[in-house]
Amino acid sequence: MSRPAAVLTGLGAYVPPRTVPNEELSRRMDTSDEWIVQRTGISQRHWADPGVATSDLAVEAGHRALKSAVSGGFGDIDMVVVATTTPDQQCPATAPDVAARLDLGTVAALDVAAGCTGFVYALATASAALVAGYAERALVVGAETFHPFLNPADRGTAVIFGDGAGAVTLRRGTSDEAGAVQTVDLGSDGTLKDLVGIPGNGSRPRSTRPMQPDDQYLYMHGKEIFAHAVNRMAQSSSAVLAKAGWDVDEVDHVVGHQANLRILHALARELGVDRERLVCHIDQVGNTSAASIPLALADAAAKGHFQLHDRLLLTAFGAGLAWGSAAITWPEITLA
Ligand code: COA
Repeated sequence: MSRPAAVLTGLGAYVPPRTVPNEELSRRMDTSDEWIVQRTGISQRHWADPGVATSDLAVEAGHRALKSAVSGGFGDIDMVVVATTTPDQQCPATAPDVAARLDLGTVAALDVAAGCTGFVYALATASAALVAGYAERALVVGAETFHPFLNPADRGTAVIFGDGAGAVTLRRGTSDEAGAVQTVDLGSDGTLKDLVGIPGNGSRPRSTRPMQPDDQYLYMHGKEIFAHAVNRMAQSSSAVLAKAGWDVDEVDHVVGHQANLRILHALARELGVDRERLVCHIDQVGNTSAASIPLALADAAAKGHFQLHDRLLLTAFGAGLAWGSAAITWPEITLA
């Protein structure tokens, strides 16, 4: 039976022009192209030039998503949600600036901070607002400028993360339409909050001690995160498929958070999905955190991998810990 649902109408992606191949990193730190490719599946990432911030990438991706939506007959946006862990500044949020620079007027605009799961949380937030009638059309952006937060002395994180932004537009519609967000599953475990994070600028360090040099940088317990990522994305995927009433064999494409190719392969094994159904874009962009799922969607869509009405499982995991999945069908989308 048809229900009110958010429906995907546009898609856009942007990565800064500067590519950083593995060889460049291996000249700066004790690593190698061979290690990075074997252990992560990453060949290169994009890093923004000095002075370029997350809002700049978000505006580019948002603009492309809006253009792609306009070509499908899209009207005015009345809500902007930006998922990011690397906002332009602590305060104010990045979304109002993105909305203003996209000439969207005085719309509702908020940031969602859910680490690498940010895009799925933002999609859920906007979808809920559309279904509740608080908004008619939303722009959801996942955008990160991670490289300034990477500790040049930490080869475990410096080789993984990249900058970029991806965006989708949504409108209120019904669950039987191509592009409908069928359902989502979200979760978190704050008892494991210390496994990955960026301590600087928070109220706790500020109120207890002077800022330490490394507080500005991302730290990550990679091995533990790896195991939790596989388990939580597999559990959440199963949960969202059960809610959607989809058998795993009916899923055409699994779009997992692009954290590590080995994580994606382990996820496919856990779910019993062959690797051909995995959407993999990590080799070109690295881990772009909240931007990773929309960037992967845009890359696969540009390559013509998705057909109208295909069933997509989106699943993500990251700092928090937080995880989430969404079941969507694929609409008619013309990339800008
Ligand atoms: N180049 C070369 N060697 C490196 C390296 C690098 N960039 N990074 C780590 N190593 C070394 C380690 O020092 C270690 O050496 P040792 O055995 O002499 O101690 C060895 O490689 C293995 O390190 P380990 O941390 O066990 O590697 P790994 O296979 O777990 O891979 C990650 C490391 C970070 C790539 C992996 O754990 C990972 O992807 N984790 C999940 C990240 C993630 O999902 N993040 C997103 C959510 S926030």
